[in-house]
Amino acid sequence: MAKSNFTNAISLVLGKMITRKNPDDALAGAAKGGLEKTLGVWDLIILGVGAIIGSGIFAIVGIAAAGSADGTSPGAGPALAVSMVIAAIACVFSALCYSEFATMIPVAGGAYTYTFATLGEFAAWIVGWILMLEYAVGFIAVACAWTNHFMQFIKGFSSILPAWFCNPPLWLINDYRSAVNYCNTHGLDAAATIPTIAGIPVSVNLPAIIMIAITTAILVKGTKDSAKMAGIMVAVKLGVIALFVITGAFYIKPENWTPFAPNGFEGVFMGAFIIFFAYIGFDALATAAEECKNPQKDLPIGILGSLIVTTVVYVLVALVLTGMQPTSGVSIPEGLFKAPMAFAMSVVNHNWIAGLISVGSLAGLTSVLLVMHMAATRVLFAMSRDNFLPHVFLKIHPKFNTPMILTITVGIVGILGTLLLDLNVAASLCNFGTFTSFIIVCVAILILRKVEPDRERPFKVPFCPWFPLMGILCCGGLMVFSMIIAKGDSARLSTELFIVWVIMGALIYASYGYPKNRLAECNENEKEIAKEDEITVGIK
Ligand code: ALA
Repeated sequence: MAKSNFTNAISLVLGKMITRKNPDDALAGAAKGGLEKTLGVWDLIILGVGAIIGSGIFAIVGIAAAGSADGTSPGAGPALAVSMVIAAIACVFSALCYSEFATMIPVAGGAYTYTFATLGEFAAWIVGWILMLEYAVGFIAVACAWTNHFMQFIKGFSSILPAWFCNPPLWLINDYRSAVNYCNTHGLDAAATIPTIAGIPVSVNLPAIIMIAITTAILVKGTKDSAKMAGIMVAVKLGVIALFVITGAFYIKPENWTPFAPNGFEGVFMGAFIIFFAYIGFDALATAAEECKNPQKDLPIGILGSLIVTTVVYVLVALVLTGMQPTSGVSIPEGLFKAPMAFAMSVVNHNWIAGLISVGSLAGLTSVLLVMHMAATRVLFAMSRDNFLPHVFLKIHPKFNTPMILTITVGIVGILGTLLLDLNVAASLCNFGTFTSFIIVCVAILILRKVEPDRERPFKVPFCPWFPLMGILCCGGLMVFSMIIAKGDSARLSTELFIVWVIMGALIYASYGYPKNRLAECNENEKEIAKEDEITVGIK
């Protein structure tokens, strides 16, 4: 008897955990307390390119081409262009799936919302939780890269700016881990270099913190304003990349392209994994679906259009960069790892172009910061609406119509994150989170096609089930490959943190999300019963 009660309880709990949310309920919820619809097709393409082109192409591309400086991951060499195409292919299948979902269920939340409609409550929570790795942790990675570029940029003005500004102490521009690493690699005594307060060492990435505070203020002020800001920055970054490609083409030495793939397939695939970070962002558009004027038509154009523009730009940069600079067989200069395009231009004595590229990269990183921050808040907004987070997060600013409390909360979490994570760990964690969410979106498409074949689909993934299956295979393959190939502390730490993050998510669901949703169900039922009683009394 006791055993059958136990079995019943378990099956009840499991049943609730896989309860799907009807897409119509998601649409109705959005219609009730939704966000303002301000974004058109151009706003979307600009937001998309704004979200995608950033630290990946301006910084990480050097590591993808030449391998990591400590030798823990092999480089693609001139075959970087092939790595770029492989990473783009892994993205395009998921982009098609995102487009189908975004046009079918155009509400805030992206992959989180789609998972709720297909795999149920528990999977949706875990996806939302993992999406925080992609957007909120990715946002921390970009903020760290922003500091590196900013410091590089102001060094160019060292003759006119005060010395304290151009050469601030190490502990004011680095998180603690990076500061200690720097001390170790430069023969400094970390204990003597990093100050302490009450015995606790203090090292903060101040430029990143200031930048996060600024993007928070811009996003509280409004989505339309953020799209305008992103537009200016997109123009600047595309302009400097065009300048690099056109000028650099005159300095290509074909001998730099041989050997084409110095580290064989391993280098090419590892390059694809690393440069995958450079493509992250197109999916952020789907999280803003609720703010689109005409999501059915504009979202697929925005998502696929921004991915195509980016791929073309990246392949051109890869060809020119690896044609200008040797990427294997010689000792690789530090500049190629930190700011590869600017470095290549300074080698051929175009210092003013190198300076412009630094400005463009700062603009690029700022626009990525804006969109990632926005995407994180939109996913959390959808999760709060579903009782996974306190309803106070649903508060909309009375004048600006933006989720103010969430935006500020994500900003504060980002600032705390800059104290704990460095660029490498944050970027790898972001990659893991993104691969997982892409895989889940592809799986979700296959499920929804089966369980709701007649639902209206303004945009359909062609060659289903093959394209979603290819998405699962490409993203899963690159993720597992990187876990096997990458060595070193950062790689191990990010794999461990990813596992810890998922376990933490499951525990939070069990202790908060699950009970809160059951309570909400009881309240709903009571309301229904009260309504029925009123009707019965009325009839009598
Ligand atoms: N794709 C974004 C970047 O490269 C995350 O910064």
